[in-house]
Amino acid sequence: MRFRDSVVWVTGASSGIGEELAKQSHAEGAKVVLSARREDELNRVAAECNGPEETVVLPLDVTDEAAITSAAEKVLSRFGRVDVLINNAGLTQRARIIDTAMSVYRQVMEVNYFGPLALTKAVLPSMLECGKGRIVCVSSVAGKYGSPMRSGYNGAKHAVHGFFDALREETQGSGIDVTLVLPGAVKTDVSINALRGDGSKYDRMDSFLESGMSAAGCAARILTAVHLRQREVLIAEGIARRNVWLKRISPALLSWSMRRRKPFRTTVTGNRPT
Ligand SMILES: NC(=O)c1ccc[n+]([C@@H]2O[C@H](COP(=O)([O-])OP(=O)(O)OC[C@H]3O[C@@H](n4cnc5c(N)ncnc54)[C@H](OP(=O)(O)O)[C@@H]3O)[C@@H](O)[C@H]2O)c1
Repeated sequence: MRFRDSVVWVTGASSGIGEELAKQSHAEGAKVVLSARREDELNRVAAECNGPEETVVLPLDVTDEAAITSAAEKVLSRFGRVDVLINNAGLTQRARIIDTAMSVYRQVMEVNYFGPLALTKAVLPSMLECGKGRIVCVSSVAGKYGSPMRSGYNGAKHAVHGFFDALREETQGSGIDVTLVLPGAVKTDVSINALRGDGSKYDRMDSFLESGMSAAGCAARILTAVHLRQREVLIAEGIARRNVWLKRISPALLSWSMRRRKPFRTTVTGNRPT
């Protein structure tokens, strides 16, 4: 019961990693606030939570700044504090730069960068007042190196690292811990929900995600990192893990090895467009 009596707010709680973060932190004693856009899915996840404390379903589009302010007010008026904010909502892209509309870049940036930033700013004053709090951002190995077909996502996740590293420095000694999470391949709907260059839904399961780690396993490792107040945690195996290290040691070698791989392998499941 590592999160007994804690108020944990999870964005992107309607599926994938966020769903598991909500369920597992609830099972460990947290009062959980579940946010995402799809209220029906949030209600399903809340109904499947079976911890001792309450769950609150709070629909939220993280690209809507006014909605973020009002959601934070609701959470703070209900609980008086947020102990753990997990910025997990995310959106990726599957298209080459030449084919990607600016509107897609802006949308990917809004969800992955400005959303976490705005939500963090909305809860930060209360955490500073309490003299404690944990702020988590689920980034990606895509925040450490760039690869084909996801340039907007790479840019947004790199930006997230700059922001949350700066936040950690600015809040030194305040009782606030900042954890950046870098998953590799996790088997979720993230590629199905990805945007094509024209903004339409990609709707395919990437083969490397199909064989990735489970969302439950990833969430368990995230919660351990949060509990241990780790600054940054790499949750990746195989090529993704190796690439993070290669980028540090020899960016040229990483680039060479990436050019040898097909950038766009997919298996097809679910609603494949014909
Ligand atoms: N799966 C992987 O291999 C992998 C690897 C590295 C990093 N990550 C990161 O892990 C996080 C979770 O992704 P996932 O893999 O669990 O994918 P997912 O199943 O597609 O989940 C994405 C979540 O984000 C929410 N979301 C999207 N746009 C939103 C918006 N505008 N406002 C509020 N919520 C929004 C979605 O809910 P609604 O549609 O209901 O709004 C959904 O709950 C993301 O930040 C992703 O970048 C995933």
